[in-house]
Amino acid sequence: PAPRLRNPHPLVFGHRGARGHAPENTLLGIETGIRLGADWIEVDVHLNGGRPVLMHDMTLDRSTNGRGRVAEVTPDYLDALDAGRGQHVPTVQQAIECIDRRAGLNLELKARGLAEVIVHQIRHAVQVLGWDWSEILVSSFDLHELRQVKALEPRIAVGALYCGVPLDYAASAEALGAVSVHLSHEFLAPNLLADARARGLAIYVYTVNQPEEIERLRALGVDGLFTDYPERVAVLDRAA
Ligand code: G3P
Ligand code: MG
Repeated sequence: PAPRLRNPHPLVFGHRGARGHAPENTLLGIETGIRLGADWIEVDVHLNGGRPVLMHDMTLDRSTNGRGRVAEVTPDYLDALDAGRGQHVPTVQQAIECIDRRAGLNLELKARGLAEVIVHQIRHAVQVLGWDWSEILVSSFDLHELRQVKALEPRIAVGALYCGVPLDYAASAEALGAVSVHLSHEFLAPNLLADARARGLAIYVYTVNQPEEIERLRALGVDGLFTDYPERVAVLDRAA
């Protein structure tokens, strides 16, 4: 299907799918995020047996019934786990197929050594499955990993994630060729938005669940919000 051609403000990023409603980083979470109005689905990515898989933590313990490090268990072990409500741990490939261009896909890289396999997956999505380059956004706190992605495939859009606001945030994002900077909501101020705008960088803000904070950021004019509750952002203007 064709992607939804909308340019709403702010864009809604379903955080880990729709974490407020469904197990994080699962296909059910992705389906729920789309159903609740997410324009983009954000998932976290680790490496397991050479495959990129959806997982937030370095270990399986919190979000599944398994134990150990994602990178160290066998694919057979990982594939048999319950990530909540009978959901399995999806691969990035399964997430791409599940979304099927009904929303954009933001892959947040949580581990080193993912660049090559992620580039391979995204090329497959674009060249075989008909996605547009603009429908996938790769982000990470690890700017070195993003630089690798860009070096391997400059057509991939990348977003620089920051904890706090480093003094050189704009310089590092621009040096990467990033399209967006992703900041925590408590650091968002009007002058920062103006600065990013002047540089042509979109500002996406995580993770915003409280209605008052959603309204504050909407009024400031941020370009996108990551939320566990997509329906709290995707209101009113969405019907038009
Ligand atoms: O990508 C935005 C947000 O997901 C970053 O924080 O810890 O929820 O992955 P975290
Ligand atoms: Mg994340």
